[in-house]
This record gives sequence, C-alpha cells and structure tokens, in this order.
Amino acid sequence: MNRLEGKVALISGAARGIGGESAKLMAREGAWLVVADVLDEAGRQTVEEIRAAGGQADYVHLDVTREEDWTTAIEVATGRFGKLDVLVNNAGVFIGKPIEEISLEEWNKLVAVNMTGVFLGTKLAAPALREAAKSSEHGSAIVNLASIAGLVGSQLDPLYSMTKGGVTLFTKSSALEFGRKGYRIRVNSIHPGVIQTEMGEQTFMARARRTGSNDPAPVRQQVSDTIPWGRLGVPLDIAKGVAFLASDDAAYMNGAGLVVDGGFTAA
Ligand code: NAI
Repeated sequence: MNRLEGKVALISGAARGIGGESAKLMAREGAWLVVADVLDEAGRQTVEEIRAAGGQADYVHLDVTREEDWTTAIEVATGRFGKLDVLVNNAGVFIGKPIEEISLEEWNKLVAVNMTGVFLGTKLAAPALREAAKSSEHGSAIVNLASIAGLVGSQLDPLYSMTKGGVTLFTKSSALEFGRKGYRIRVNSIHPGVIQTEMGEQTFMARARRTGSNDPAPVRQQVSDTIPWGRLGVPLDIAKGVAFLASDDAAYMNGAGLVVDGGFTAA
C-alpha cells in the first residue's frame, strides 16, 4: 500500500519503540522520513533500516525541549525533501512515581518532554505544514502520541497522566485554532494502551518495585491478563494507527482521539 506516497514526515523520538516502528511503516507506505531523536546511534540505525528496505530517510538530532533543535529538524525536512506534510509528536518519557514521592525536578522533566516538546513541535512546524497544505487536496497532518492515561485517570502514574491529558486537549485546541485560521492542518491524537517497548518495560518495573521486587515478569503477565483482547500491544499496532491518521484516509478526522488499547479502557 502506498497511501503516503509523496508525503514528507518528521517523527520525534523515532530512534526506537513506537516512533521507530511508525517511521519504518510510513516509509514502506511511501513517505519520506525525517527520523529525529536524542539517541543518535539508534536513530541512524533506524534510517539505515529504512534505506536498506528501499525507503527514503534522514536522521537529525532533536531534543524536543529545545527550540533551536526543532528549527534545524524542520529545515532538514524542507531542505532535503522540499516540504513538510506530517509531524508526529511521539517523543515522550515516563516516570512512575506516586504524587508524594516524585520530585519537582522529575516533574519538570516530564513536562518538558511530554508537553513543552509537543507545543514547540506544533508551533515551529506549523508554517511548513501550512505551506505544504496549500498544494495538497486533503491538507497536512499532526499526530500526537497521547495515551490511555490521557483519557482516564491513573492511580499508579498520576503525573504522567497529567501530561498526557494535556496532550489530549491540546490536540483538540490546536485543531480548532488552525481550523479557525484556515491552515488546513488536521490535528489528531492516538491513545495507546500497554505497548511492549522500553517505556512499556519501565511501567512494569515501576509496578514491580512497589511490591519490593525487581522482576517485571509477573506484572507483565498480570497486565496482559487484564486486556480484553488477551495480549499486550506491540509497536506495529500503534504505528498502523499513526500511519492512518497521517494519511489522506483520515481526511475528515480532526481534533479526534484514536484509542488503540485492545479494549483496556472499554469498561
Ligand atoms: P520509548 O521509550 O521506547 O521511546 C521513546 C523515544 O523518545 C526514545 O527513542 C527516546 O530517546 C525519545 N526521547 C525521549 N526524550 C526525548 C527528547 N527530549 N527529545 C527527543 N526524543 C526523546 O517509548 P515508546 O513506548 O515508544 O513511547 C512513544 C510514545 O508513546 C511516548 O510519547 C509515550 O508516552 C507514548 N505511549 C507509550 C505507551 C507504552 O505502553 N509504551 C503507552 C501510551 C503512550
């Protein structure tokens, strides 16, 4: 399927996990990719894999909390590939600590990556996305990685949940603002359930530690058992949703949230 043929996409946090898988899938679907991350070696490896499979990709160092890095990353997209059609705000960090135990420094780090990063990406990519939209029948797209923890409360990770709740509503607000201004940039969020990535493992480990254990395996099994579809998610489950929201197949989706969680929040 080549539903992203001719599209240029920039994905933050694309060195590994959900972002890495989304970059590879979107390249298979015809997009030209700018893979951006703070993990330079892993990011370059992702680019190599895309190229080896016949796709087009470049790597750029991007710390999403730094305005100047965003400017460079967007220049790489427009300089190398001529435009920017899609921004995926995927970079994120997790801290699984209770309210009374998390430090102000840890909270500031969560906010900087999970919220400031999304704000800066949206702000700095908007002019290029708006420009590309002028010659695209269905406009440009932003896809924000929120979480089910940004839809329902989280008794175990309340601060992470606060940042993702912010992403959920910022998605809707930016869709409304860009709509009002006639930018033709669709903005949607995706809400993964429990996905097997480095971050997924961090969530299992945080839960295990609360019971005084260093073994995430029993928690992993426990969580898996509570998912109506009967298994944990894998990055490709989410990448398929990201590629859909980025594509013209989602031409009439705007300010919406796509839940991909195996039924975890259905109850
Ligand atoms: P991951 O930890 O495997 O990958 C996150 C990527 O973001 C890494 O490559 C990391 O280097 C990058 N990153 C971190 N800080 C950065 C910064 N300041 N600037 C640029 N890149 C940075 O995590 P995963 O699971 O792939 O998560 C991707 C997104 O999906 C995140 O926003 C996460 O919150 C969200 N998510 C993940 C879930 C899961 O169960 N794994 C569930 C719900 C949402």
